[in-house]
Amino acid sequence: MSTDNLVALSANPKAVHDLAPYKTLDAEELSARIEAVRQQLGDSLLILGHHYQQDEVIAHSDLRGDSYKLSQMAAESEKCQTIVFCGVHFMAETADMLANRPEKIAERDGRRVSVLLPDMAAGCSMADMAAIQQVEAAWDDMSEVIDTDQVIPVTYINSAASLKAFCGRHGGIVCTSSNAKAVIEWAFERGQRVFFFPDQHLGRNTALEMGIEESQMPVWDPFALELGGNSEEQLQSSRVILWKGHCSVHQMFRAEHVDSFRKQHPGIKILVHPECPREVNDLADVSGSTGKIIETVQSSPAGTKWAIGTELHLVNRLKAEHPEQEIHFLSPVVCMCATMYRIDLPHLCWTLENLRDGAIVNQIEVDQETAEWSRVALERMLAVR
Ligand code: 13P
Ligand code: SF4
Repeated sequence: MSTDNLVALSANPKAVHDLAPYKTLDAEELSARIEAVRQQLGDSLLILGHHYQQDEVIAHSDLRGDSYKLSQMAAESEKCQTIVFCGVHFMAETADMLANRPEKIAERDGRRVSVLLPDMAAGCSMADMAAIQQVEAAWDDMSEVIDTDQVIPVTYINSAASLKAFCGRHGGIVCTSSNAKAVIEWAFERGQRVFFFPDQHLGRNTALEMGIEESQMPVWDPFALELGGNSEEQLQSSRVILWKGHCSVHQMFRAEHVDSFRKQHPGIKILVHPECPREVNDLADVSGSTGKIIETVQSSPAGTKWAIGTELHLVNRLKAEHPEQEIHFLSPVVCMCATMYRIDLPHLCWTLENLRDGAIVNQIEVDQETAEWSRVALERMLAVR
């Protein structure tokens, strides 16, 4: 038995099917079996897929979207009893908390929706760059030199539920890449400064767009010895304190990639995700969430030339869906989200067939107290737009 399978079984003592045999099946058989379960379970099953998933997984999702749209879908889900989330861990946590709001549970006569993540190893390296203990320690440290009653914590949705709960408790809020500007404006209506984690690039790119100077955005390094590596003056003159975190996929795009495309393809437009570093974001023609990237391409005329800086699977899908446009991947090296890629047909089929046969595997369930405070911050976000 493979190590992977031992992990799957120990995490899922009630699994009635082992994972290993699924890995030996071909895509055609797996797809047919996945569709058979979908038919059998009907409306009681909702499969959500993030835009970065592989095409063969997306083909089986009921709904697909960016992080914002997927959280809205989970919040609005009516008939389903189970959500199978083809995305990463923080997305499944968010779905669990929003689908199981107390009023929703009451409407369902006490029934909870189970949220399943086909592979528990589908995490997010950026989310892992900010642990709750580090954020709490940073908050305490900065309170020595600035008034934290005037600091509004904002967590990117790409973070653990404990960080969302921290924001709920401290008058803060959650944002996604599609509403970061509106959320930071919301925060400035309530405080003097913003503490933004875990993605320094989304925080910086958004604040720059709002006219805030980079000199007013110190970066908090959780591993620095004192004050996150900042002086007291830097923190006292700050407007946005950025956490030293990043996305390992979007970090790979470089300004020289933009220059090289512009030289070799006159007239080409650069379209990037705001998780890219400032040097890339500043040079781009358009920057936005995965949802905005898709809408921008969809609404462009035939013959438009694009170099797109976001996860490889999404760019390849856009290429295939829009042969009337010329679409390039912005980096010469492969930038793919290895954790999203863990969700594949064998894991999806294994999860669904266990579910059909009465075994809930890989359930993501946030503890009640964390969920309550996280919802405070999530609901503030859902109300912002
Ligand atoms: P969006 O789908 O919100 O644009 O986020 C991209 C991403 O990195 C998801 O992890
Ligand atoms: Fe996390 Fe980046 Fe992957 Fe998104 S693309 S899930 S931010 S590692």
